[in-house]
Amino acid sequence: MRMNFAKSFLNATVYVATFLSFSAIAIAASAQSTEITFHKDIEPILQRSCQNCHRDGGAGPMPLVSYEQVAPYAGLIEYKTGLRDKAGAMPPWYMEKDVGIQEYKDDPSLSEEEISAISTWARSGTPQGNISDSPEPLVFDDSLKWGAGEPDLIVKTEPVTKLSGTPDWWGEIPSVPTGLTEDRYVKSVEVVEVNDVDNQVGTGRETVGGRYIFHHMIWATAQMNESGERVPGLSIPWPVHEVGRNADIFDEDAGRLLKANSWIVSDSVHLHSNGRDTTGHLEIGFRFHDEDYEPKYQSAFIGLGNGVDISIAGNQSNQELHAYTVLEQHTKIITFEPHLHAPGERMCLEAIWGYTVETLSCVGYDHNWVRGYPYAENSAPLLPKGTILHIVGYMNNSETNPNVPDPRNWQGSGNRSVTNMFIDLGIRVTMTDDQFHEAMEERRQALDLGPNDHVIGCPLCGAPLVAPISEEEVDNNNEVANND
Ligand code: HEC
Repeated sequence: MRMNFAKSFLNATVYVATFLSFSAIAIAASAQSTEITFHKDIEPILQRSCQNCHRDGGAGPMPLVSYEQVAPYAGLIEYKTGLRDKAGAMPPWYMEKDVGIQEYKDDPSLSEEEISAISTWARSGTPQGNISDSPEPLVFDDSLKWGAGEPDLIVKTEPVTKLSGTPDWWGEIPSVPTGLTEDRYVKSVEVVEVNDVDNQVGTGRETVGGRYIFHHMIWATAQMNESGERVPGLSIPWPVHEVGRNADIFDEDAGRLLKANSWIVSDSVHLHSNGRDTTGHLEIGFRFHDEDYEPKYQSAFIGLGNGVDISIAGNQSNQELHAYTVLEQHTKIITFEPHLHAPGERMCLEAIWGYTVETLSCVGYDHNWVRGYPYAENSAPLLPKGTILHIVGYMNNSETNPNVPDPRNWQGSGNRSVTNMFIDLGIRVTMTDDQFHEAMEERRQALDLGPNDHVIGCPLCGAPLVAPISEEEVDNNNEVANND
C-alpha cells in the first residue's frame, strides 16, 4: 500500500511537472506573438500623434521616426505620454478623459491602451520587432506643419529679428496684403512661426522648447485706402495667435468672411528672445469653403472670464477662480480655449441650465502650449438661451509649477505673463429658435437618441422624446385600458 501510494504520488508529480513545462512553452509562444514591439505597436502611434512635430525640420527638439532615433528616448517618452492631461504631457493636448465631452476634431491624444503599450515597451528592453510589421513610412514635406491641412491661401508677415538676450518687445508690425481678389468664407485659420532656429540644438528658454520668438499676435483683417491707411471701422478680428497654438476650425455652418483686398493688420505683437539671434515671420494659412458657400449661423462675441480682480496667493497650489455669463441667445459652442497665464494649471467649463449643472470639458493647462479644443460635429454643446456658462480656473502658484518664476509673489490681474488672465477664448455661434430646433433634431438622428439617452451639453436634446403625450393618445390609451 505504502509503495503504491508513493508510486502514484511520484506519477502525479511527474504528470504535474510535465503539464507545467508544456504550459510554460505555450505561454512563451503566445508571449512571442503578443510582445509589444517598435514596428508593430509603437511606430503607428508615433506616426499618428508625434511625427508631424518630431521629424527633421519639425517643431519638436528631436526626430522620433526610426528605431534608432526613438529607442534612446523610451524612458522619457513613457514619462511624457504618462502625464496624460498634465502640463508637460506629449502630445501637447490636455483634455481630461474621465469627465465631460470626449469627441474633438483633430484630437492627437493617446488611448489608455497606447499609453500602457509605450510603458510596457519602454520597460521590456524596447524590442524592435519585425520590420515587416511597420506601417508605411510617412512622407515628410513642409505642408505637415499645417495641422488642419494645407491652406488655400498663405499670407506671410514681414521678417523680424530678435537678438539673443534682448528685452521683450511689444508693438505694431507692418501690415501685409492678403492678395485675395474675391470675398471668401474661411473654414479654418492657422498661424505658424517660421524661423531660422536650428531645432535640433537646445536653447536656454523653456517656451515650447525655446523654438519661437513670437509670443503672440492679436490681429485683424482690414481694408486700406489709396494712401495705405487703414479704413476705420472695417476691421474683422481673428482668433489670437499664441505660442504653441493649434489651428482654429470654425463651425461648418459659420465660416468667417475674409474680404477681397483685405490686409493683415496687427498692433499687438509680443516678441521675446529665445536665447539666440533669430529671424522669423508668421505664416497665416486660410482654408476656404467653396465659392458659393453661405454661412447659416452668426458668430457670437460672448465674454467669459475675469480680467480685473484676480487674486492668487503666494506659495499655494489648487486655488480656484470662477467666472460666469448668461447666454442671451441659443448657442452652439464650437471650441473651448482656456486662457490662463503662468500659474494656470487646469480649467473646466460648465453649463448650468435649470437644476442641471453639467461639466462640458476639463483640461490641464501649460502656459507654454496654448491650445484650443474644437468639439466634434455631433458633440458641440447646444445650449438654450438662459444657460449659465461657468468657468473654473485652478491656479498653482507654488514651486511645483515650473512656469512660475517666483511663487512667493502674490499675483493679480494684468496683461503680462507674470500677471494673470482668466478667460475662455472659445468660439461660439448663436442660433434662432428654428435653427436651434433643427440642430437638436439632427443631433437626435445622428446619435440615434431614445427617451432614456442623455447627451452631455444638450439639455433639451431629449425633451421631445419624453414630452407629455397628446390628449388624443390619452383617450386611446384609456379605451385600450377599458377594453381590458
Ligand atoms: C505639436 C508638436 C508636437 C507634437 C504633436 C508632439 N511633440 Fe513632443 N515636443 C514638442 C516640442 C516643441 C518639445 C519641446 C518643448 C516641450 O517640451 O514642451 C517636445 C518635447 C518632447 C519630449 C521631451 C524632450 C526632452 O528632451 O525633454 C518628448 C520625450 C516628446 N516630446 C515626445 C513626444 C511624443 C512621444 C509625442 C507623440 C505621442 C509627441 N512628443 C508629440 C513638440 C511636439
